Amino acid sequence: MSDANLNVYRIRGHRPLRGGIRAQAAKNAVTKQLVASLLTAEPCRLRDVPDITEIDVVLDMLTEIGATYDRRDDGSVDLATPRIASTAISERYSGVNRIPILLIAPLLHRAGMARVPVVGGCNIGERPIDFHVDLLRKMGAEIDEDDDGYTARADRLRGTVLALPYPSVGATENAIFAACLAEGTTVINNAAVEPEIVDTVLFLQKMGALIQIDTDRKIVIEGVEELHGAHHDPVRDRIEVASFAMASVATEGRLRIEGADQAAMITFLNILRKIGGGFEVDAGGITFFRAREALKPIHIETDVHPGFMTDWQQPMVTLLTQAHGVSVVHETVYEKRFGYTSTLNAMGANITLTNDCLGGKACRFTDRNFPHSAIVQGATALAGRQIEIPDLRAGFAYLLAALIADGETTIFGTRFIERGYVNVPERLASVGADIDVPSRQAAVA
Ligand code: EPU
Repeated sequence: MSDANLNVYRIRGHRPLRGGIRAQAAKNAVTKQLVASLLTAEPCRLRDVPDITEIDVVLDMLTEIGATYDRRDDGSVDLATPRIASTAISERYSGVNRIPILLIAPLLHRAGMARVPVVGGCNIGERPIDFHVDLLRKMGAEIDEDDDGYTARADRLRGTVLALPYPSVGATENAIFAACLAEGTTVINNAAVEPEIVDTVLFLQKMGALIQIDTDRKIVIEGVEELHGAHHDPVRDRIEVASFAMASVATEGRLRIEGADQAAMITFLNILRKIGGGFEVDAGGITFFRAREALKPIHIETDVHPGFMTDWQQPMVTLLTQAHGVSVVHETVYEKRFGYTSTLNAMGANITLTNDCLGGKACRFTDRNFPHSAIVQGATALAGRQIEIPDLRAGFAYLLAALIADGETTIFGTRFIERGYVNVPERLASVGADIDVPSRQAAVA
């Protein structure tokens, strides 16, 4: 078996997805809740933790700090960090994901110091962490930056009034972790209020934190002396649900997603309905299907919650290649999140990028020469070919393209998909996709 085969899916298109799958818990909530568990010495339990490589990486990082964990047969993870064994996260995690910067506040609370490497994550823009460093400094941390990472010290963090320059998800989470055990009250103005953040607030509330989510995206946290262990069932992954929903609509199938949460997806469901997708909500999930034979084009702008998520954008653009007419998608969260469209064009799509803000509003990228608006001319047939995934969410966009393409598509770099989605080939095959993973067949043989 060659190395190249290790990360490959082969898909033959035009098979409608029919049946049911269960939504996994949200990667972007669970990873933060693993970090939140560090705020107490007592054991915590997270239920139904997805078996994806991103979670494994975070658990490894926490183990370096002194956490021990047990992945139970029922999918839950028990973890506890009775004492901090090391305040430094090693450089092998440099550039791997967004988590190291979120470890500073828990380490300061528990041990008064922290050393973390530079953060990474998908290459979808510059992704600076200036908001994180500023807010920790405002709360009393001394932070030295060097080429390899950040060294922080604080005897006790202090509550203060913060105003985020942009409602960053990570910076909001960082401020919450810093504020829970800080002296006094912290106000976070212009906070992000994504459902994954609210879910982490629920976990922290069970742990004893005092966090108020006010109107106008303002979060107020009264610091408490200590937090204790808690159990939590994390929110379902609305990125995964939308991705499979779009696959169902695109392939003219009918897929019920157990655990899909309507309240977290109002904006997505409206857009899906407007372009001709259909859905039925029941007590335990949502069923997705094609409501109109010819899909209609649309104008979308990505935004912070409750807007249209940037992580829904890539599979949506792929779906819009099948709509009849011109769609426009304005990406306002990341400056470089259309890189994947050249591959869709190579498969037969007609997508043009422009630096202009093609939307009702100007965004942070106006006049900054980033190709952050896309014009999608449909409907175009897609043809299967060999393609390589550049990042996690583009990965599902390519899967979707392969599912509707003529002929066979070979997708390389599928490790990106496995970072964020549980057992995708098996689950897609279970609802009718014609997909195989050559390396797994070789392993069995
Ligand atoms: N930003 C700054 N300075 C900062 C922090 C953010 O300029 O200090 C900017 C970013 O460059 C970006 C914008 O603010 O332009 C929003 O970034 P945000 O901090 O909200 O993103 P994040 O916390 O790094 C999380 C998710 C992303 C998701 C975004 C937006 C995790 C681990 N990642 O990233 O998910 O796209 O929020 O919702 O929670 C993914 O799962 O594939 C993914 C990329």
